[in-house]
Amino acid sequence: MRLFLSLALAPLAASFVVHKGNTCTLFPESLKNGGDAVDDVPSVYEAFKQCGHNGKVIFAKDHVFNINSVMNTTNLENCEVSLRGELRWSTDIPYWLNNSYPVVLQDQHTAWLFGGENVTFRGEEGGWYNGNGQAWYTQNENQSNQPGRPISMTIIDSKNVLIDGLSIIQPQFWATFVVQSKNVSITNFYVNATSNDQWGTVNTDGYDSWNSEDLLIENAVIQNQDDCIAVKGNTTNLLVRNVTCHGNYGMAIGSVGQYPTMPDYVEDVTFEDIRCYDCMEAALIKTWQGVAENDSSNGDAGGGGSGYVKNITFRDFEVVNTALPIQISQCIYTESGKDCNTSKMAISDITYSNIKGTSRYNIASSIYCSDVHPCPGIKFENVEIDSVNSTMGLPLAGTTLQDEVFQCTNIIDEENSGIPCNHAAPSNYGQSVDTNVKDDSVSSES
Ligand SMILES: *[C@@H]1O[C@H](CO)[C@@H](O)[C@H](O)[C@H]1NC(C)=O
Ligand SMILES: *[C@@H]1O[C@H](CO)[C@@H](O)[C@H](O)[C@H]1NC(C)=O
Ligand SMILES: *[C@@H]1O[C@H](CO)[C@@H](O)[C@H](O)[C@H]1NC(C)=O
Ligand SMILES: *[C@@H]1O[C@H](CO)[C@@H](O)[C@H](O)[C@H]1NC(C)=O
Ligand SMILES: *[C@@H]1O[C@H](CO)[C@@H](O)[C@H](O)[C@H]1NC(C)=O
Ligand SMILES: *[C@@H]1O[C@H](CO)[C@@H](O)[C@H](O)[C@H]1NC(C)=O
Ligand SMILES: *[C@@H]1O[C@H](CO)[C@@H](O)[C@H](O)[C@H]1NC(C)=O
Ligand SMILES: *[C@@H]1O[C@H](CO)[C@@H](O)[C@H](O)[C@H]1NC(C)=O
Ligand SMILES: *[C@@H]1O[C@H](CO)[C@@H](O)[C@H](O)[C@H]1NC(C)=O
Ligand SMILES: *[C@@H]1O[C@H](CO)[C@@H](O)[C@H](O)[C@H]1NC(C)=O
Ligand SMILES: *[C@@H]1O[C@H](CO)[C@@H](O)[C@H](O)[C@H]1NC(C)=O
Ligand SMILES: *[C@@H]1O[C@H](CO)[C@@H](O)[C@H](O)[C@H]1NC(C)=O
Repeated sequence: MRLFLSLALAPLAASFVVHKGNTCTLFPESLKNGGDAVDDVPSVYEAFKQCGHNGKVIFAKDHVFNINSVMNTTNLENCEVSLRGELRWSTDIPYWLNNSYPVVLQDQHTAWLFGGENVTFRGEEGGWYNGNGQAWYTQNENQSNQPGRPISMTIIDSKNVLIDGLSIIQPQFWATFVVQSKNVSITNFYVNATSNDQWGTVNTDGYDSWNSEDLLIENAVIQNQDDCIAVKGNTTNLLVRNVTCHGNYGMAIGSVGQYPTMPDYVEDVTFEDIRCYDCMEAALIKTWQGVAENDSSNGDAGGGGSGYVKNITFRDFEVVNTALPIQISQCIYTESGKDCNTSKMAISDITYSNIKGTSRYNIASSIYCSDVHPCPGIKFENVEIDSVNSTMGLPLAGTTLQDEVFQCTNIIDEENSGIPCNHAAPSNYGQSVDTNVKDDSVSSES
């Protein structure tokens, strides 16, 4: 009954926004519409119009807000947002495929553009983002990068943004994307994409960044089926700290080098205090090959882009049952390994320090640098990875290689790198590994 009280006390309510002082409190339309899932987006726009500059917007506690249309809540200034209810995204897939906003990179789209200057967004008092992703996972049927499938939340053209306590459950696609922004922090962050049918959640990255600098992700738990964190082109000065990843592709730089007309520069990135449980990869750098190609498992064409990835630190990792803990690939989407040695992306000064735990198969690392750009400054310090089986005294199946494999190709000053290289890295070693390395002539089937 508190609701009717709020209404009665709110003669200035427009749509379903209660405006008092500099604070706008939102209530859902469903309350006035017999519980029907009426779109709350017009009210959200009204709240940000009234309180998006030097104000506060509160999504009222314990209420469900139906988000049935795209939202563009950008250009906020000195605004605090409190999500205390549930944002429930509609599952009208044809609508979203038609209407999601393009975000340029990889022809991706988003359901929500958010941002501005001096903005905080807090998930608190049980507030959360319900992407209703199961509908997306089921209709997507495991395809990669379905055109128009929307990113849950994109922080764009922003400066000094703090997102704290955000939980995104069942994201539609990538959970968050930071674009063209500076000084954006995401702390106390939770993402969980879990499918309940035979289809995977595919492309549910926890976080992606592009054309942005001075970024932080701290204290996060991410379960999904793609990169835990993905650092895309033109990301500078990113710190990722205290993140636990479940069943995903871990900490990834890339993919980069996709577009010949847009070079990718990535530098000064540190990942520290990271745990990967049952992941495919833990520390991954992935670039496209040096020539454009049109047959890719990525659902996308590309290659031939130039640029660099430099000064990256992977520090204090615990990896548990991870298929391929450490990888650098320079032709991640040419399954045949064709043109792998042509990549124009220069990789340098990559440190792997204090990386400990178990690999699912007999391989700890595969580092393949292209012939065009052999990699200087690759360092292993205290990297101790052993296969799950050998830690249990069990033999490895289907291989003569019972010792842990460390593959290396085109590493400059390899002998001083600290890497116990014992095999060449083949050009066609995939991102998804599902078997032991058999011997030097045969690499992963996948
Ligand atoms: C989003 O809104 C901003 C104004 O706040 C506008 O400049 C921008 O073009 C809009 N973006 C899209 C994709 O509609
Ligand atoms: C999608 O867009 C097309 C072309 O604009 C239009 O004909 C169709 O009705 C739209 N579908 C939906 C579900 O919005
Ligand atoms: C944002 O905050 C900074 C530091 O307090 C201030 O200098 C700047 O003017 C603020 N920006 C806006 C748009 O108010
Ligand atoms: C970065 O943004 C935070 C808000 O998240 C703000 O407190 C801090 O002052 C900003 N830093 C700079 C250098 O503007
Ligand atoms: C993610 O959600 C699934 C299904 O609800 C649950 O079983 C799992 O424990 C969750 N993962 C984490 C890390 O919270
Ligand atoms: C879809 O992908 C998931 C996860 O990779 C896999 O477990 C499942 O078997 C695939 N489903 C079908 C029907 O191929
Ligand atoms: C690390 O993050 C987890 C999950 O967000 C949190 O519970 C824990 O307190 C954090 N640890 C530290 C040292 O901050
Ligand atoms: C990266 O920034 C450079 C300018 O520094 C620009 O030329 C290039 O197009 C940007 N790349 C991408 C992928 O946006
Ligand atoms: C490398 O990046 C780290 C941040 O990740 C930064 O502190 C350090 O100064 C950078 N080193 C160089 C040589 O630029
Ligand atoms: C890729 O191949 C498809 C089908 O053969 C064609 O329609 C498309 O234009 C090609 N794209 C590029 C970028 O070459
Ligand atoms: C790449 O490898 C192919 C096949 O081994 C070889 O013909 C070609 O010359 C190599 N390219 C470069 C740039 O080294
Ligand atoms: C680990 O050992 C078990 C029992 O011998 C075997 O079934 C399994 O295939 C082995 N795993 C690997 C990755 O070799």
